[in-house]
Amino acid sequence: MKTRRPIVAGNWKMNKTLAEAGELLEGLVPELKDVDSVGIIVCTPYTNLAVAKEKLAGTNIKVGAQNLHWEKSGAFTGEVSADMLKDFCEYVIIGHSERRAMFGETDETVNKKVFASLEVGLMPIVCVGETLEENEAGQTAEVVGRMVREGLKGLDQEKAARVVVAYEPVWAIGTGKTATPEQANDVHKNVIRPILREMFGEAVGDGMRILYGGSVKPGNAKELFGMSDIDGGLIGGASLKVADFVGIVEGAF
Ligand code: PGA
Repeated sequence: MKTRRPIVAGNWKMNKTLAEAGELLEGLVPELKDVDSVGIIVCTPYTNLAVAKEKLAGTNIKVGAQNLHWEKSGAFTGEVSADMLKDFCEYVIIGHSERRAMFGETDETVNKKVFASLEVGLMPIVCVGETLEENEAGQTAEVVGRMVREGLKGLDQEKAARVVVAYEPVWAIGTGKTATPEQANDVHKNVIRPILREMFGEAVGDGMRILYGGSVKPGNAKELFGMSDIDGGLIGGASLKVADFVGIVEGAF
């Protein structure tokens, strides 16, 4: 019996106009409104945060963003701060592999963003994961371990307890190639969990949620989420369709 309440978070990435977002949100609410055993989050583009806040107000579905800047305010054209996000949402994805690969995100910027989000009360979903090349070279534990240690460096127990970690092997994102439940759980249980326990103590480390992400679908969600250290999922493509996202949430019951 697992004691950690699972989380299923949708990562819409760069998808959905305002009208499309409204339609998706309106489709999700009636389907998911009675779910209380799973934490449900939708992480929308910045441009959809206001409509998500409005349509999800008073429901069990929480809103998240997909990135932030670590500075409070100032001359950072195109960026959005934690304080600004706080007006719209409770969660923020940090260090997604697409940001690491395409937009210069590093362990150091991840760490600064984690601090910035926690400081204003936003809960970070911190993504870690190895590339196919690293995986094939047997470097998974080393790479994932480094991302966890560096990304969460310097947090005290109180702050760490508010962090959600997402293990997303890069080779499984948007590829249709899912890690097997055993493969994913091995990284959660034998790489990430022991580091969290070492860094933040056993109680905090055991209580932190570690989500799996990478081609999660209604058909494989239940088996993945049933593993001992997989506490839900971060869902990309399948979070853009009501039936698929609902099916995945149901996999976490
Ligand atoms: P996917 O993406 O579910 O489309 O593989 C997951 C993610 O990038 O968070």
